[in-house]
Amino acid sequence: MEPIVTKRLLLRQFVIGDFESLRDIQSRPEVTRFLYWGPRDDDEVRKGLKLRQSRTSLDGLDSVIEYAVVARESGLLIGDVQIALVSAEYRTGELGFVFHPAHHGLGYAREATTELLRVGFDELGLHRIIGRCDARNTASAGLMGRLGMRREAHFRRNEFVKGEWCDELVYAMLAEEWANRQTR
Ligand SMILES: CC(C)(COP(=O)(O)OP(=O)(O)OC[C@H]1O[C@@H](n2cnc3c(N)ncnc32)[C@H](O)[C@@H]1OP(=O)(O)O)[C@@H](O)C(=O)NCCC(=O)NCCS
Repeated sequence: MEPIVTKRLLLRQFVIGDFESLRDIQSRPEVTRFLYWGPRDDDEVRKGLKLRQSRTSLDGLDSVIEYAVVARESGLLIGDVQIALVSAEYRTGELGFVFHPAHHGLGYAREATTELLRVGFDELGLHRIIGRCDARNTASAGLMGRLGMRREAHFRRNEFVKGEWCDELVYAMLAEEWANRQTR
């Protein structure tokens, strides 16, 4: 994977030295509230970081590319974004994104995830990219809407997560929608 430079951000492979910054994100209950996991302890963060360091290409089902998101001005690691291959046959990918709360509300997540769509469609030739979130996660749903993804589903109480049945939203974008968006 090649690093990506945007106006304000650097997206790069995770390195061992990212442990403390990643822990500061993943150990926070407010960050992991609507995720399947967390808050994470040190061991869990360490294992997660090792996995992240190894996820550098989409080369088979369930493969993932993970990017550490660094604010160029400060050099701080502010988030973690990923694109996963959920169907090789149908060339379908899925986005994931988690940012430190000190860096929410500034458009950083949008700037980074736009690059995931670009990599997925323009470089990897995906046909469709989806994103999923807990229906109560308005920040996540808002981001996917701002990215131009369509809300395709609202599943009622379909997953049992952290002791309760939860609703799930599914957003998606097709390659042709991405291409039209580019030329608008
Ligand atoms: C989901 C998440 C990544 C969204 O982050 P975010 O910062 O709200 O998203 P964006 O980058 O699109 O920022 C949008 C906000 O920045 C503002 N903004 C400020 N400067 C901006 C700029 N230069 N460009 C774009 N937006 C800007 C927008 O007006 C918007 O503000 P609003 O939320 O008050 O309407 C974040 O809430 C998060 O990490 N949550 C915890 C983990 C999680 O739940 N992840 C998703 C799992 S499915």
